[in-house]
Amino acid sequence: MIANFVSTLDGVVSYEIKNQAGGSTISGCDIADRFIMGLLRAAADAIIVGASTLHDASPEALWLPEDTYPDAKHLYADYRVNVLHKPEYPFLVVVTGSGGLELERAIFRTPGVRTVVITTSAGRYALARKGATKLPSVQIRALDSSRGTISPGAMLRLLYAQFGVRRLLHEGGPTLFGQFLEAEVVDEVFLTLSPQIAGRKADAVRPGLVQGMEFMPADAPWFQLLSVKQMTDHLYLRYQRA
Ligand SMILES: NC(=O)c1ccc[n+]([C@@H]2O[C@H](COP(=O)([O-])OP(=O)(O)OC[C@H]3O[C@@H](n4cnc5c(N)ncnc54)[C@H](OP(=O)(O)O)[C@@H]3O)[C@@H](O)[C@H]2O)c1
Repeated sequence: MIANFVSTLDGVVSYEIKNQAGGSTISGCDIADRFIMGLLRAAADAIIVGASTLHDASPEALWLPEDTYPDAKHLYADYRVNVLHKPEYPFLVVVTGSGGLELERAIFRTPGVRTVVITTSAGRYALARKGATKLPSVQIRALDSSRGTISPGAMLRLLYAQFGVRRLLHEGGPTLFGQFLEAEVVDEVFLTLSPQIAGRKADAVRPGLVQGMEFMPADAPWFQLLSVKQMTDHLYLRYQRA
């Protein structure tokens, strides 16, 4: 599993402001960050996101490699199909305990674009009531949960066994990502460091890379730096779990 995030110098990954909550506000629409995002998508069998990250994305978003960097569309396709021998596109995996997804989104309704929803029994019931089970390109899988929270291990086993996923790209958000880190299943983190500072009020929620949980010094995950790249004032960091 590889993860990809962009953060400010002070570790903020979302301003949590309507229409400005996503990574492009953090990166300043940096083109190299967008190129890397597309490249990681091109290398993955599937991309996993939490329901809130989906909710904050454009309704038209399809999570295709070229969506982030259209000029590299043919390079991504060539790399994916001719070098990695993977199908034309990765599919999106959306994780929701509640099933409260907006089914009008393009990701659920575009022919040829597959989406897998991992949810609870209650979530599947809620989605079925809204007609999700009739959408031809959407597959819904319900897993056991503990008070609505499905374990990362169960998600990975499902994706491995039923969908042939061997390389999964985690695109957040911080709530979902924290659980995968805690489960010790994250192999690499690609982190773009954007040269701005967002700040935080004491009571405001501007999440960092991990939200809703904390590690102790004795068990906090450490990483080895695999590479550092730079373009203008941004840094592109690649870490491997130590
Ligand atoms: N800068 C970056 O690189 C970057 C990357 C990704 C996201 N973001 C930003 O981060 C924000 C969203 O992050 P977030 O932490 O609030 O949310 P998130 O992790 O994207 O989604 C949280 C939701 O996912 C579902 N979920 C998470 N873990 C689950 C589990 N184990 N079992 C079942 N369902 C689970 C729940 O959905 P239900 O409530 O439906 O049950 C939960 O409310 C957005 O603003 C997004 O733009 C930034």
